[in-house]
Amino acid sequence: MELEQEIRRRRTFAVIAHPDAGKTTLTEKLLLFGGAIHVAGAVKSNKIRKTATSDFMEIEKQRGISVATSVMGFEYRGVKINILDTPGHQDFAEDTYRTLTAVDSVIVVIDSAKGVEPQTLKLMEVCRMRKTPVIVFVNKLDRTGQDPFDLMDELEQQLHIHVCPMTWPIGSGSAFKGVYNLYEKNLQLFTSQEKQTIADSIKINDLYDNELDNHLGEYAAKLRENLEMVHGIYPNPQADDYLTGKQAPVFFGSALNNFGVRELLDCFLDIAPTPKNFETEERTVHPEEPKLSGFIFKIHANMDPNHRDRIAFLRICSGQFKRNTNYLHVRLMKNLKFANPTSFMADKKLMVDEAYPGDIVGIYDTGNFKIGDTLTEGEQIHFRGIPSFSPELFRYVENADPIRYKQLAKGLEQLTDEGVAQLFVNQSNNRKIIGTVGALQFDVIQYRLEHEYGAACTYQPMQLYKACWIESDSKTEMDDFKRRKWQFMATDKEGRDVFMAESQYALAASQEKFPGIRFHFTSEF
Ligand code: G4P
Repeated sequence: MELEQEIRRRRTFAVIAHPDAGKTTLTEKLLLFGGAIHVAGAVKSNKIRKTATSDFMEIEKQRGISVATSVMGFEYRGVKINILDTPGHQDFAEDTYRTLTAVDSVIVVIDSAKGVEPQTLKLMEVCRMRKTPVIVFVNKLDRTGQDPFDLMDELEQQLHIHVCPMTWPIGSGSAFKGVYNLYEKNLQLFTSQEKQTIADSIKINDLYDNELDNHLGEYAAKLRENLEMVHGIYPNPQADDYLTGKQAPVFFGSALNNFGVRELLDCFLDIAPTPKNFETEERTVHPEEPKLSGFIFKIHANMDPNHRDRIAFLRICSGQFKRNTNYLHVRLMKNLKFANPTSFMADKKLMVDEAYPGDIVGIYDTGNFKIGDTLTEGEQIHFRGIPSFSPELFRYVENADPIRYKQLAKGLEQLTDEGVAQLFVNQSNNRKIIGTVGALQFDVIQYRLEHEYGAACTYQPMQLYKACWIESDSKTEMDDFKRRKWQFMATDKEGRDVFMAESQYALAASQEKFPGIRFHFTSEF
């Protein structure tokens, strides 16, 4: 019974955005509402300062600081909320993709002037693939932005999701008056920055009542006109459509001014899903099962040579996690127990004695874990859904120190287990290929190989468009494909066949020529 109650009162989600849309500001305001922090600026987020973009050591240092805030837990209205922070820097996008495997829903922040930006598109693709429920927060209404109807069109078309406004803005920029809450039927007026924290809303039972004019003056008529259009165009909120990722409720506000954040949080608590089921290779795992299961979705290595420890982040999927208890590390078939598991509460790290589905536990690791590893109370299951995504940059990696070949191999193996980059081996010449989402990772690998493994490597450029995991129902066609494309066939770390497409054109040509082969941009399909 206790387990079920704990599950029901948990919400685990990520805030995602294109850099600068306001993810950090919104996260911080959510924490302020939850009482988890008391002053703005208390949370050092995963945001990587712009000045440091070319200095990866500086970035790693900042990432080190941000471990503590990778997960921010707090209680609000009796609900335990876990916000998983995602790195703002696009070179760490793969970290973000993996974080999305560990959440039950997301809040997407959009800059009202910029609309849908490239990073948002990519992250939303991952959410769509996983049918993750999405709430949209349109931010920076205090600045002149796009027309809200245009913005809603853009959201629908580019994010391929139906939108359903929950609030509607009145004016924008210097003429921003506030928002009308369509479902609570009240008006929230935007005044100055300090007053927003506990702004009371004004109940408007009848939109045609003079009260609206008293508060909004000349803006009242425009609001009535807009709301009629809103009711005509957009569907009513449907819980099922939201929970299956088909419909996104949309809120308007200004995170910096604390405006619209409480409405967002309150609605989130009402509608956001509790910890969900997870698929394993063998069966579906339900959170209320009494036995513990969970998977590692992120590993954070400490770059400080004096503290060579790593933290593996475990998402609990079922049962109860207890400190100092033996759990089975399924891949290694080894029992492990954890003396100092960590939970994260806002800007503090705490030792946990127990944790429940939806929670994230930080485990100090000396090299036992890799991304996707499963922990159980003995059952041999393997969680699915922690796919590798096709990298976007590829280089051949060469050994630069012949007597340290073994160190290089070990270093590459471990760093790619951690998820720093992906490793492929070309089937025709056995050369190793490193694939990453961001260019910085190549520097990170070179540096870490040298400092942690005493190995040296050089890179050789290669022109590749995508790595495609391939499958076919026809063995003959697959064999034929592999024979003809032998120069472009590689193997990933799990031994799966991967086609390295040189260009978009080469991929399209192969797809046309081999209709029986399915090309996937992620390792799970
Ligand atoms: P990110 O994590 O998504 O990258 O964005 P972040 O919250 O850091 O916000 C990016 C910039 O946008 C910040 O300004 C922040 O103050 C500003 N911002 C966030 N929300 C609002 C809003 O509602 N209205 C307005 N006008 N600005 C907003 P900055 O100058 O880049 O950084 P800072 O010096 O203020 O920290």
